Amino acid sequence: MAQTRTKSAESKASFPRVTFLDGRGDLPMLEITTPWSSAEIYLHGAQVTHFKKHDEAPLLFLSQCSRFAAGQPIRGGIPIIFPWFGKPADKPGQHGFARVRDWELKEMAVSPDGTVTVRLRMPECADSPECPACTVDFMVTVNVALTVELVVLNRSSREFIFENCLHTYFAVADIGAVSITGLKGVDYLDQVEAFARKTETNDAIRITSEVDRIYLDTSHGVEIQDASLKRMIRVEKEGANSTVVWNPWIAKARAMQDFGDEEYRQMVCVESGNVALNKIKLAPGQTSRLKGKLSSAATVV
Ligand code: BG6
Repeated sequence: MAQTRTKSAESKASFPRVTFLDGRGDLPMLEITTPWSSAEIYLHGAQVTHFKKHDEAPLLFLSQCSRFAAGQPIRGGIPIIFPWFGKPADKPGQHGFARVRDWELKEMAVSPDGTVTVRLRMPECADSPECPACTVDFMVTVNVALTVELVVLNRSSREFIFENCLHTYFAVADIGAVSITGLKGVDYLDQVEAFARKTETNDAIRITSEVDRIYLDTSHGVEIQDASLKRMIRVEKEGANSTVVWNPWIAKARAMQDFGDEEYRQMVCVESGNVALNKIKLAPGQTSRLKGKLSSAATVV
């Protein structure tokens, strides 16, 4: 697909419509409108920053204070965490480099029903200890739901050990009215308590302080109930054995320069991936697929 940027590269019908334009910070961005929804995807990090069903509030949180600049991660939407999660001692920087690379748009397809799918590719890595030769693609499908898939092909002759994560920021009306279900009985590493291993005992997780947990060995989806917005969000996943739940709460929100002091009330991260003890060991020639499907519905509360 041509990479020429234009402000009017629209299809003739009003839906679906795909526009390639300069987004915030003059970073190239795709604006997609389908019969059901709208979405925005930056080539910077292949980051989906917006998804909204026409009759609903935005599904994804994007910080008012986010940076939109080369070399800086965008705070919100779905940052792609790859090839490592967090800040291991032997790795440079936090959460890998996929989220700060400028990806290339490789393909765009429109289905007869109006579904739009795009495929982006991460620039080649120079073979390094962190990342051997591999091809990394990210597919985004926009319709009544938002479906994303990270595909890694190990083209090298050595095993590639990596972590991946769809670091999804969900928008909520008020964190005090949010509960998260689907993790009862699952073991997690509590990053707020030096990675202590614990077991989730709650049917529904409520967030009343800083939460930063890596749930392990869980391939189940998760639901987020937002009683204030009267909305239920469903997070379905494939090829993901970890779920991370994160809310920075008051002190950490204040400490982050690219995050508003009060914004912790309007977001929760529920992330699907393979991290820590669930990291991936990919043999030469093999492909790994991490898929997430995000959907929502109004609830009667
Ligand atoms: C979460 C981690 O996934 O991402 C947290 O579990 C981390 O520990 C958070 O603070 C945000 O990371 P960053 O690098 O985007 O500020």
